[in-house]
Amino acid sequence: MSTKAFRLQYLAKAAAGVPRDLVNTFINARIHPIRPTVLIYNCTWVCDAKCEMCSNWKFGDRKSDMTLAQLEPAMDHPFWGAVENLNISGGEPTTRNDLPDMVELFQRHLPRMRKVGINTTGLTPHRAIPMLTRIVKFCAETGLLLSVRVSLDGIGDIHNQVRQVKRGFDKAVRTIEAMQALAKEYPNFQFGIAATIFAMNLQDAENILAWARTRGLDVVFNMLRFTDAMLHNKELEEKIAFREREEAFMRKFFLDRVAEESVLSGQAFMYLHYADMIANGYHRTMPCPFQSQGLLLNPNGDLHYCENSEKIGNVLDEPAETLYFRAENLKHRQHLKDRVCPTCLSPCQVNVGAMKQFVPYAKFLKRAYQVKRDPGRHVETLPVAEQVR
Ligand SMILES: C[S@@+](CC[C@H](N)C(=O)[O-])C[C@H]1O[C@@H](n2cnc3c(N)ncnc32)[C@H](O)[C@@H]1O
Ligand code: SF4
Ligand code: SF4
Repeated sequence: MSTKAFRLQYLAKAAAGVPRDLVNTFINARIHPIRPTVLIYNCTWVCDAKCEMCSNWKFGDRKSDMTLAQLEPAMDHPFWGAVENLNISGGEPTTRNDLPDMVELFQRHLPRMRKVGINTTGLTPHRAIPMLTRIVKFCAETGLLLSVRVSLDGIGDIHNQVRQVKRGFDKAVRTIEAMQALAKEYPNFQFGIAATIFAMNLQDAENILAWARTRGLDVVFNMLRFTDAMLHNKELEEKIAFREREEAFMRKFFLDRVAEESVLSGQAFMYLHYADMIANGYHRTMPCPFQSQGLLLNPNGDLHYCENSEKIGNVLDEPAETLYFRAENLKHRQHLKDRVCPTCLSPCQVNVGAMKQFVPYAKFLKRAYQVKRDPGRHVETLPVAEQVR
């Protein structure tokens, strides 16, 4: 389906939860911790690529992945009853034969789930296409929105180099074409590509955009970041972090996207904030639902509040609810809020948080219109305290 129509469906579903969200944001979260509404499940670190900007592939170990028989009892608890958005990532989710069964398991245990997101390399089309097709059909039957993105970090050989996979581009394109055809048939299914830009593929960012456009594909550009709980790539920071050239390029690139995108799209919101962060010395102004209502579950059952939190326990040893509400863990979450969030680049489910924080969102809309009119005046639109460069 078209991205616009999908967004409208998502907004309609989100709107149904607005009174509850308001109560949660303004009252409950300030008095006592609220249950998670967003969940990321990295279902394996096993991977079919060896990317230059992510080291998950070095940690693949099928034997330590939770089986569905282990996952099911961990999810069988009312604690999970508030989760609305689930993202399944990894490693490469389609390396697990039981991926469709996993989605069905979550659907059984997450009664408020509205939307499932899956990130995939698309590099093993003969496995990915049938699996994802089954998931699309299941979500259609059960009234779930599904969003799938195939990662594409260059057109042709650059993608093969970034991912270190022979003919990786051709393989990914097979999955992309099959998913795009499926999205035309199923209104609950949104499909697009995701690109991570860094020094190695900077020169291809515009090509990716043009390639996606000519095919009518929705594309998201990830901001390069470093996190061990999600990407195992802190050790890469020194080698591949943005230097001045990449910062200048990406700031302009993000502002150009704001100029083109509808300001109501979640992407414009994210891109403007990334441009802000590059301009203001990496001071985060984006909200994040993981500060108060999220969890990250890793393949072996390790639980984190978010991609930058320490491990707060393991769901195979103790119920997630106990770990989530444990006083010393909540203290750690407060520490994250105070010390790590202010410079964090994570985009995870940012739009969920954005729409629930009405005043900051209204301020964003105002600035986005100003920047759209005149991207050259971006720095002037920053709140005074942030005008660093
Ligand atoms: C970690 S991957 C997992 C799913 C699947 N293996 C894939 O590559 O799509 C999820 C997304 O993170 C992106 N990613 C990888 N390394 C990154 C980095 N250093 N900074 C930001 N995003 C990154 C990938 O390009 C991909 O779109
Ligand atoms: S970005 Fe995805 S494909 Fe690449 S190593 Fe990380 S998990 Fe694997
Ligand atoms: S550290 Fe980042 S991902 Fe974690 S809660 Fe803060 S802003 Fe969100």
